[in-house]
Amino acid sequence: MKQYQRVVSALDRSAYIGLMLRTDFATPEVELNGLAAPAKPPLVDPFGRAIRYLRVSVTDRCDFRCVYCMAEDMAFLPKRDLLTLEELDRLCSAFISRGTRKLRITGGEPLMRRDVMTLFGQLSRHLQSGALEELTLTTNGSQLVKYAKQLADCGIRRINVSVDTLDPAKFRFLTRRGDLARVLEGIDAAQDAGLAIKINAVALKDVNEDEFISLTEWAHGRGMDITFIEVMPLGEIDGQRVDQYIPLTQVCAKLSERFRLEPTAYATGGPARYMRAQETGGRIGLITPLTHNFCESCNRVRVTCTGTLFMCLGQEDAADLRTPLRASEGDELLHAAIEEAIARKPRGHDFIIDRTTQMPAVSRHMSMTGG
Ligand SMILES: C[S@@+](CC[C@H](N)C(=O)[O-])C[C@H]1O[C@@H](n2cnc3c(N)ncnc32)[C@H](O)[C@@H]1O
Ligand code: SF4
Repeated sequence: MKQYQRVVSALDRSAYIGLMLRTDFATPEVELNGLAAPAKPPLVDPFGRAIRYLRVSVTDRCDFRCVYCMAEDMAFLPKRDLLTLEELDRLCSAFISRGTRKLRITGGEPLMRRDVMTLFGQLSRHLQSGALEELTLTTNGSQLVKYAKQLADCGIRRINVSVDTLDPAKFRFLTRRGDLARVLEGIDAAQDAGLAIKINAVALKDVNEDEFISLTEWAHGRGMDITFIEVMPLGEIDGQRVDQYIPLTQVCAKLSERFRLEPTAYATGGPARYMRAQETGGRIGLITPLTHNFCESCNRVRVTCTGTLFMCLGQEDAADLRTPLRASEGDELLHAAIEEAIARKPRGHDFIIDRTTQMPAVSRHMSMTGG
């Protein structure tokens, strides 16, 4: 599982040092705590991939307990372990000063974090300065009625909303407590506020197989893209992954019964590959970590709500950024820790789901690392 961990060869290391000195990635001066910080070199990993996309989980808590994501009886982290909003802002700003262009706030349910709009408000200065191209979030939609307008006011233009089924009873079963009507009202509110929406749907065997077409028709009918995601082996859940897993080749086969699908070159900087349904003109994304590994072009890293940096969603190696954040008011130690971590970003992951592999590929849940 950890075969890529710390295996940067001497050759890779010298190539890496060369890449660290590359100047063809523009690095803006970023306002940090009111002071103009001297530009530091952009972050480039040992395989030449510039780190441009940061996903930050701001809480591990959630008002739902989706069956593929969490156990019913989850033990959440004590609040003191979480980065404060100020620390989250410092951390994101440090990455932005090193070349991050896209920042996704996620969770757990990000909109359940108290005062999260303060963080969005602060981060929006990087959009205004042009340092950041996109600030976005992934949400279960339950709080969108309350926050959609404020999110739009912070410069957010596109959001991802997770909807795995349009059947209210099935929705309640899948999320163990969610109210579909409330999520749909949230989607209305977001569209009214001018936010573009992409729907995320995890493909689940025997659960929403009969809805791939209707979910797509619904999303496209409302002008939303939809992305299907293969269930990933992250964290212990109550059931078995093999009972949930369905390869997206089967999703494609199902969709082909209704739509003529054409490949597109469209890319959002994320791991999805997109097709267009000719009948609706809408896009369908596929995130296939199991049947089609997307590591080659991986330009992203993830930070948990406790400040742990994961260089790969599917590997255990991680770096603690909370200690350097808390050790001093300046960001020198933080930058050093980030550089050291990026130098060990692995080439990729190797998820597997089968009857003999009962353990999750990594022990942490998606709600901890952020989806
Ligand atoms: C962890 S959630 C966090 C944001 C928010 N709570 C939501 O549900 O959109 C982000 C995305 O990860 C997906 N997800 C969670 N656990 C997963 C798993 N084990 N495999 C694949 N996708 C998963 C969710 O469906 C969601 O689209
Ligand atoms: S997928 Fe999102 S909404 Fe569902 S339990 Fe995980 S964090 Fe919560």
